[in-house]
Amino acid sequence: MTRTVYVNGEYLPETEAKVSIFDRGFLMADAVYEVTSVIGGKLIDFAGHTARLERSLSELEMASPVTMDELLAIHRELIVKNNIDEGGVYLQITRGAGSDRDFVWPDPEEVPGGIVLFTFAKPLLNSKTMDEGIKVISVEDLRWGRRDIKTTQLLYPSFAKMQAKRAGCSDAWLVEDGFVTEGYANNAYIVKDGTIITRQLSSDILHGITRAAILRFAEEAQIKVEERPFTIAEAQEADEAFVTSATGFSQPVIEIDGEMIADGTPGPIAKRLREIYVEEMLKTAI
Ligand code: PDD
Repeated sequence: MTRTVYVNGEYLPETEAKVSIFDRGFLMADAVYEVTSVIGGKLIDFAGHTARLERSLSELEMASPVTMDELLAIHRELIVKNNIDEGGVYLQITRGAGSDRDFVWPDPEEVPGGIVLFTFAKPLLNSKTMDEGIKVISVEDLRWGRRDIKTTQLLYPSFAKMQAKRAGCSDAWLVEDGFVTEGYANNAYIVKDGTIITRQLSSDILHGITRAAILRFAEEAQIKVEERPFTIAEAQEADEAFVTSATGFSQPVIEIDGEMIADGTPGPIAKRLREIYVEEMLKTAI
């Protein structure tokens, strides 16, 4: 099926959508992005994603070519045009295309930002990985130091994912100075004696929108949360492990670096949090 995508003000068939070879997103990964999930044709936690987008833009002194209200309208239009029931919307804003390759940022008054959105259909509610759990390997975290900004510099996460794939795993946990930072494209958690442990927010990790909601729901459900770094060895000794992301909600981890977590089956807390997450987020889906 040919999707309809949005590029710099136009809705076009994906085969006709084009961006300039001078677009800084293409040349320098000078771009930020968001992925918002869709259930029943509605956007999950759109307010959370736009708040993080505005922060990413402001940290990089980048201007948005559209307002957040316009962005919502474009998301909705694409969901309708592509008949998306379950899946998501990918959004990318770049610093635009100057007239040449230049390390100096162009004046936003002269060079408008670039914007691209497209949808994808993907089953989210009935997920095989949720029932079976995922296996992860650990990989050294060699990304830049501002992981709190959601940029399109994804070569290293992609490299880590390939290492996981070659090891027969679906996910890589990134480790820096002996401690897990996060997953290659998700936030990482362990559970020990009923307490959820996950790294505290800083520029070391992306401030996951799903993370914020899951920790809020955990506290409401009287599950203790400790925000601190943990090691791979501690994770391997945990009662449970899981990851969160916009399109994965909370997914159980059953093996880390070849060591089974507990008895190697998905743990109850990740499952319960996923159920609460879906139920609660549907109430505010737009
Ligand atoms: N990834 N950490 C990293 C490094 C991520 O790339 C992501 C999201 C997360 C989870 O954030 P959120 O809960 O807001 O989705 C954490 C997206 C889904 C991606 O790159 O496809």
